Amino acid sequence: MHDVKFTAVLAGCGGISKTWLDAIKALDDLTIVGLADLNPAAAEARKQEFALPAAVSTSLEELLEHHRPDVVLDCTVPDAHCATTLTALRYGCHVLGEKPMAPGMKEAGMMVAAAAAAGKIYAVVQNRRYLDSIVNFRDLLRSGELGSLSTLNADFYLAPRFGGFREEMDHVLLLDMAIHSFDQARFISGADPVTVYCHEFNPAGSWYRHGAAAMAIFTMSDGSVFNYRGSWCAPGLPTSWQCDWRACCSAGTARWDGDDELHAEKVSGNEGFFHPVAKVAVPENKLLYTGHAGVIREFLDCLKHGSQPQTVCTDNLKSLAMVHAAIASAGQHAVVNLEF
Ligand SMILES: NC(=O)c1ccc[n+]([C@@H]2O[C@H](COP(=O)([O-])OP(=O)(O)OC[C@H]3O[C@@H](n4cnc5c(N)ncnc54)[C@H](O)[C@@H]3O)[C@@H](O)[C@H]2O)c1
Repeated sequence: MHDVKFTAVLAGCGGISKTWLDAIKALDDLTIVGLADLNPAAAEARKQEFALPAAVSTSLEELLEHHRPDVVLDCTVPDAHCATTLTALRYGCHVLGEKPMAPGMKEAGMMVAAAAAAGKIYAVVQNRRYLDSIVNFRDLLRSGELGSLSTLNADFYLAPRFGGFREEMDHVLLLDMAIHSFDQARFISGADPVTVYCHEFNPAGSWYRHGAAAMAIFTMSDGSVFNYRGSWCAPGLPTSWQCDWRACCSAGTARWDGDDELHAEKVSGNEGFFHPVAKVAVPENKLLYTGHAGVIREFLDCLKHGSQPQTVCTDNLKSLAMVHAAIASAGQHAVVNLEF
């Protein structure tokens, strides 16, 4: 039972809002007092589905004016994230918003500056950091058991038929999906990007208008290389939504399939053409809250204790910068430096 309670208005009642409201249902310290959506039927439907004691409006401002919540939860489309966040901060709310922070670095910079000026927390949902298996993979690499990381590979191959904004937007894989994988790479390695070379394309037969596939090679601040290969137009033999990962280290290798399979081997002798290797025991963390519930729980705890969530906007800006540097590299056919 939590003694400090928060109120929130949720903006954007489309597909992902169900995941948020399912997670919030289990929390005793967050009450949804308002639901905003340009489409009033979408907001009303979520209100009924979750039996929420919430006002419904097409205007976020109207809800903020009347209900003065502590928090705004932004589940709108990427193009609306900047305006939603700036409005929420203007009303003195903390903001937890969906990825990507914004379609461009300029808007993202404005959002970070506005949060600092308001003295409020703005954090971004990177739910793929909040899984037992990624924490285990990260802890294994950080333990030093396998030596130092030299190469981190991530493969992402799926063929979803979303319809809606994704099939119309530019750079759909890099902007809407690779933000997760790039943020995961920073989380796993603990390193930040230095340079990137990226080739972006739309595979033959693509049902997306633009950029459904990309290959990106990042050099990282610890000297390692992060190599991403992804497509949203790859029917058959799907990878996990979390990517299929291989980490090559100086004394061994770990593989994580993005779901529950995590295996590692390290060198156990110094003789022969291939030196012998032995299995390595992997960590077995169990998180109390996972996925969206994990992000939301951490966000509320940070509000209570005055601390910073791991996906606070100032940090998440580095993951978004990876996306935009990759897009710039693909456009210029050149290596792009990342500067923060
Ligand atoms: N973290 C994840 O795993 C994950 C998964 C899916 C989607 N997302 C993200 O969630 C966001 C929403 O995606 P979705 O799939 O729910 O999209 P969606 O199109 O299903 O829903 C978006 C909703 O926002 C509403 N909306 C748009 N502009 C608005 C505004 N200015 N004010 C109020 N409402 C507005 C639309 O009417 C729609 O109902 C995107 O940023 C997407 O990238 C994240």
